[in-house]
Amino acid sequence: MPVPIIIDCDPGHDDALAIMLAAGDPAVDLLAITTVAGNQTLEKTTLNARRVCTVAGITGVPIAAGCDRPLVQPLAVASDVHGVSGLDGPRFPEPTVDVVPEHAVDLIHRILTEHPEPVTLVPTAPLTNIALLLTRYPGDAARIREIVLMGGSTERGNRSPAAEFNVQTDPEAADIVFRSGVPLTMCGLNVTHQALATREVLARFEDLGTELGRTCAELLTFFASTYRTLWGFPDPPLHDPVAVARVLDPQIVHCVEANVVVELHGRYTRGATVVDLHRYVDRPVNALVAVTLEAELFWDRMVAAVAALGRRSA
Ligand code: RIB
Ligand code: CA
Repeated sequence: MPVPIIIDCDPGHDDALAIMLAAGDPAVDLLAITTVAGNQTLEKTTLNARRVCTVAGITGVPIAAGCDRPLVQPLAVASDVHGVSGLDGPRFPEPTVDVVPEHAVDLIHRILTEHPEPVTLVPTAPLTNIALLLTRYPGDAARIREIVLMGGSTERGNRSPAAEFNVQTDPEAADIVFRSGVPLTMCGLNVTHQALATREVLARFEDLGTELGRTCAELLTFFASTYRTLWGFPDPPLHDPVAVARVLDPQIVHCVEANVVVELHGRYTRGATVVDLHRYVDRPVNALVAVTLEAELFWDRMVAAVAALGRRSA
C-alpha cells in the first residue's frame, strides 16, 4: 500500500525533484504540497511549486502556501544557490495549477484529521509550517505517522560553518520539531552529499527524450553551476529527494538512532544540529539519523519517477 505523505517545501531545485519523486513513484501517495519561505520568498516558492506541478502534469494534489517568514529571525533567502526566481535555469510556461485558499498549516491539519490513516510529513525546507502545526494543533502529533525531513547535518553546515540552511533559517522551528516527540528521521547534509547529480545522471534524464526529462537536466545544470561556484563541488548534491526516498524504500537510506538537539544560543553555532552519534551525553534518542545512501537505487527511483510522469503528461 502506498504511504500517504505531505511534502512541505521551498522550491528550490532539489525540492522540485522531490515533488516529482513523490508524485511519480507508486510507493507513496502524495496527498498535498505545502510551501514555506526559505530558498526564496513564499510568493516565489509557491509559484515554483505550481510551475513544477504544471510541467510534471501533477494534478489533483492541493498546493497551499504557508508561513512567509521564520518564527523569530528575519528571512534570508538563498538566491546565490537557486537564483532570483528560486528555480532558475529552465523557462517555465504559465502555471495551470492553482493554490487552494487554505493556509498550509490548516490544510495539513484538515488532511491529518480526515485521512483514514496516519500521514507521513516530508519537510524539505525550513520547519516553520511544521512547528506552527504542532503548536496550533497539538493533537495532530498523534496523527502523524512520522516526520522524515531534509535538514541539519552530523558534520559541518552549508549556511554557516556549523549550520545547515533549513535548520539555520528557522532554528526555533527546528527546535520545536526535534523536541516534539513525533517519530522523526533526519536526512542531513552528511547523507545528501552522497546524492551527487553527476554528468551520467544528467544524461539519464536527457535520454528519457521527454520535455520533463529535459527540464530536470536544465534544473540540475543550473544547480551544478552554483554548487561549483560556491562550494567547488564537481556535481551538485540533490538533497531533498533523499528524504522522499527514505519513505518510499527505507533500504535506500540507512539510519542510526541518536539524540539530536538544535543549538539556539551558540554565538558561532546557532542553527547547528548537535547529533550525539556515540551517546556522549545522557539525553534520550529522539531521531533516526540517516548516514548512508544507496546511491544507485536512489537514482534508479528518481529517474524512473520522472520517466513515469513524462509518459503521463506526454
Ligand atoms: O541545505 C539544503 C536544503 O536547503 C535543501 O532543502 C535546499 O532546497 C535548501 O532548502
Ligand atoms: Ca528545500
